[in-house]
Amino acid sequence: MIIVTGGAGYVGSHCVKELLKRGYEVGVVDNLCTGHRASVGKDARFFEGDIRDGEFMTKVFKESGAEAVIHFAACSLVGESMTDPLKYYNNNVHGTEVLLSSMLRADVDKIIFSSTAAVYGEAQTDMITEDIPKEPTNTYGETKLSMEKMMKWCDKAYGMRHVALRYFNVAGADPEGTIGEDHSPETHLIPIILQVPLKKREKLSIFGDDYPTPDGTCIRDYVHVCDLARAHAMALEHLIGGGKSDAFNLASGGGYSVKEMVEAAREVTGHPIPAEIQPRRAGDPARLVANASKVANALGFKPEKTSVKEIIADAWRWHSSHPNGFGV
Ligand code: UFG
Repeated sequence: MIIVTGGAGYVGSHCVKELLKRGYEVGVVDNLCTGHRASVGKDARFFEGDIRDGEFMTKVFKESGAEAVIHFAACSLVGESMTDPLKYYNNNVHGTEVLLSSMLRADVDKIIFSSTAAVYGEAQTDMITEDIPKEPTNTYGETKLSMEKMMKWCDKAYGMRHVALRYFNVAGADPEGTIGEDHSPETHLIPIILQVPLKKREKLSIFGDDYPTPDGTCIRDYVHVCDLARAHAMALEHLIGGGKSDAFNLASGGGYSVKEMVEAAREVTGHPIPAEIQPRRAGDPARLVANASKVANALGFKPEKTSVKEIIADAWRWHSSHPNGFGV
């Protein structure tokens, strides 16, 4: 069985669906603090509990006979990480330490890990490769980098292999429209844009149009959540096949500005989506675009849904059919 921590979250639930499609037995561990029970179908076994509870995790590993772990369970709000850093150290760093200790006790020696482009901080390069300096500018990125390093040392000491996947901007939803993004509070650009045609907000705020980019708004690299899920399965197969520990960027490798995203959403939804320029949001780098060739060469992974219109259309299908997310 593959244990997916945080499998009731946005990326986790898409990954669970992909693993089931590939014929894996899947066990989800989630404390449901931010995850949704309804996002996990009945084909996966559900263990409700917290990764920081070592006894609980040991029981999960014993009962499931786990072969490997895919680790999503973490706090992931950049803003909150700056006002409550200890929450991030506790849940992300301490939580991972307990998880790895429980894996060690149960002889589970493979882990795929959900990391982030935030480990790079303000990159001084146009196309970010995995080997550039890691200088996170927020606690969230710092804790993810600590988690990566913890896994590196566990490989050296115990032979526990890992793959860290550094996501850029994850977006979209499963095209069947039954699972998707449901965060509270929502801070991500695409779901916020789509709240306008859903009549949940009157207009969009664009945070800054004075960045050194062609239209003055921030540029990001948007990757479809289903492509991301597929990459996790491929990373798992890499480790099962005896592959070595590694870290990879996961992105589409193309950059789109906030204004371009709004324009694409107008076309997809047919709604005018009014937008007004607001001051910059603290800590936003002007441009974050990945060089995604390492994962293509090492794992043969190539994103398939790279059109931002397709990404937005899939997100729109989910949000318009579930305006209250997983809530009733
Ligand atoms: N934006 C707006 N208006 C909004 C929301 C966002 O203009 O209402 C802008 C942001 O300023 C930014 C862009 O849209 O320029 C994308 O913002 P998101 O919040 O969707 O995503 P981020 O790039 O800030 O963050 C993402 C992930 C984080 C991760 C980070 C790595 O969501 O988890 O990339 O830098 F840490």
